[in-house]
Amino acid sequence: MNDKRFYITTPIYYPSGKLHIGHAYSTVATDAMARYKRLCGYEVMFLTGTDEHGQKIEGKAREAGVTPQQFVDSIVTAPGGVLDLWKLMDVRYDRFIRTTDGYHVEAIQKIFKAMYDKGDIYKGAYTGKYCKDCEAFWTESQLVDGKCPDCGREVHDAQEEAYFFRASKYADRVRDLLLNTDFLEPRSRVNEMVNNFIDCEGGLQDLCVSRTSFTWGVPVDFDPGHVVYVWLDALFNYMTALGYQNSRYDDLDKFWPADVHFIGKEIVRFHAIYWPAFLMSLDLPLPKKVYGHGWLLLDGGKMSKSKGNVVDPYLLSQRYGVDALRFFLLRSFPFGSDGNFSNELLIQTINVDLANDLGNLVSRTTAMAEKYFGGTLPQGAGASAAERAAAAAAAAGHKVTEGALQGEGCRFDGELIELAAGLRLRYEAQMEKFQFQNALEEIFKVIQRANKYIDENAPWALAKDMEANGPRLAHVLYDLLETVRICAVLLTPFMPSSCGKIFDQIGAEESARTWDSAGEWGVLPAAVSVAKGENLFPRIDMAKELAELEAIQEQERKAALPALEIEPPAEEPVDFDTFCKSDFRAVKVKDCQRVKKSDKLLKFTLDDGTGADRQILSGIAKWYEPEALIGKTLVAIVNLPPRKMMGQESQGMLISAVHREKGEEVLHLLMVDDAIPAGAKLC
Ligand code: ME8
Ligand code: MG
Repeated sequence: MNDKRFYITTPIYYPSGKLHIGHAYSTVATDAMARYKRLCGYEVMFLTGTDEHGQKIEGKAREAGVTPQQFVDSIVTAPGGVLDLWKLMDVRYDRFIRTTDGYHVEAIQKIFKAMYDKGDIYKGAYTGKYCKDCEAFWTESQLVDGKCPDCGREVHDAQEEAYFFRASKYADRVRDLLLNTDFLEPRSRVNEMVNNFIDCEGGLQDLCVSRTSFTWGVPVDFDPGHVVYVWLDALFNYMTALGYQNSRYDDLDKFWPADVHFIGKEIVRFHAIYWPAFLMSLDLPLPKKVYGHGWLLLDGGKMSKSKGNVVDPYLLSQRYGVDALRFFLLRSFPFGSDGNFSNELLIQTINVDLANDLGNLVSRTTAMAEKYFGGTLPQGAGASAAERAAAAAAAAGHKVTEGALQGEGCRFDGELIELAAGLRLRYEAQMEKFQFQNALEEIFKVIQRANKYIDENAPWALAKDMEANGPRLAHVLYDLLETVRICAVLLTPFMPSSCGKIFDQIGAEESARTWDSAGEWGVLPAAVSVAKGENLFPRIDMAKELAELEAIQEQERKAALPALEIEPPAEEPVDFDTFCKSDFRAVKVKDCQRVKKSDKLLKFTLDDGTGADRQILSGIAKWYEPEALIGKTLVAIVNLPPRKMMGQESQGMLISAVHREKGEEVLHLLMVDDAIPAGAKLC
């Protein structure tokens, strides 16, 4: 039996909208960590899932005209939903929990009751800002300009009966946990938590853990009308998914306490304060660590489902491949801090690290092994340093490329071999601290060194005299293949499928793909056979790609805009007499032409019933061909003071109907029955 176990979790997602690249960030990081631990020989439990209850989901479902369950299903299990996204992103979780799963709901009811029986949950009154239309309570900080964040209407103070969790009772123990252990990382997040929520004025406040103003939640079974607060419900997923207070699973003893909860920084408060306090209340062991990672920012702001400024992981992985996207997320930003996402950075990372450094190394090495040795290196390729020195000495009489065979060549070998053979240790040190970026940096230092080794040894020059330099050339290629192999083993958690292809190309058998083998040099057989395959990471034309991406993103942005937007009625009244002063008349179009040098204006010559022509300029060229308007009966306001536009006088204004479609303004001139004579007054 394996006693090396590792339990790691992602946050469980609110299925309130489409997942974006920011969500993929937590989950891809967790997946890389889980794969790393599996590679190291751990039995891993990687849990993810969805957090499906709460007022917000209830509201979204109502808006969509479906039940809350239908609504969450449409985001979690439907095609293109959460489950599909994780499949696409090659996320290999071991368990998936939905908080609407029956076993979880029952467990939460038992948990709530146990805390109540213990006296840690008590009945009180919840005070908040209430929006009558949305039937929703909001906290002061949730309000937007003091109004309901959902509908924008006025809110007012209101109270409802609610249960509270006695968080205050655990304040000292939680403070101690945060300040004096490594429970919360990065450590830079500790002071903020302690100062703002525990050592603040009034101390740690008790937490409202039930609500009566909506119904989409776990019912409190001993007090109908109350549903359990969504965070209490959600946090316990980490334990119910192992079988806590339910019989669906039974690996609690095996995996609890969790080794680490990966979460985004905005939910550190729930995980670092209330979660341990809940567990203390039930005398349960605490998770070993909570790691609050940074945000992926877009144009300096947080991506958010509600803001709509999100980046679509489907689109990006379709264009660049899932592995490139996974790699980019963990290579480009330090895990504990925020990072700015941009298309440019993504393409640049792919071009520099993957196409140029890694891709080139693999394709040059395999291509040369094929070209010079027909794909199979000669027996002596994996020779030791001593054997190489002997071969070099024997070849010394021959004409050789400068320095390649003598001490110089061996020195390069030594440098590369030392760097590659020691890589696993340096990588491990970073991975154990969740420093993905640094772990990858260590790998890429070796890859860059290997590319330089190619240039130092100039295999193409060696190949000119195979009789003399063949053995040396074989050593060089062998060293390159070994280096690629070690790097590919350690890259596997980040790019599982690409590394599989690299192993196939360099002839690495299963035993040469393991964690143990990554700490050793000389694992490939000397007479290894390679097979140059597809180009794994094609170079991207930055300018062309950026233009295409922008066009697609712009299109998507437009598609997401409301189909039809009608301006709300004006709130400010106009008095009757003022309105009556406006003189609207039926007018007939005698002539209509474009105004030179203007792409907006049309010039109308109108019959307004007075016998004299009236000229009106109107900015409607985008919507009408001038000829099509001749003969039409329109409506104009004729007592506006004349105005000059593009040097021409306009005597009034034509009336049109305006609305927006997909963000674009749409305009229709008001046309009336041709039976109405020119000059007829509208009133
Ligand atoms: O918070 N960059 O769910 P959620 C990085 N249901 N991470 C981001 C991000 C971004 N731009 N946007 C979102 C919840 N995330 C709760 C969790 S756990 C018991 C309950 C991360 O769908 C975010 O930080 O709002 C969080 O860790 C995760 O996506 C889920 O966010
Ligand atoms: Mg969130």
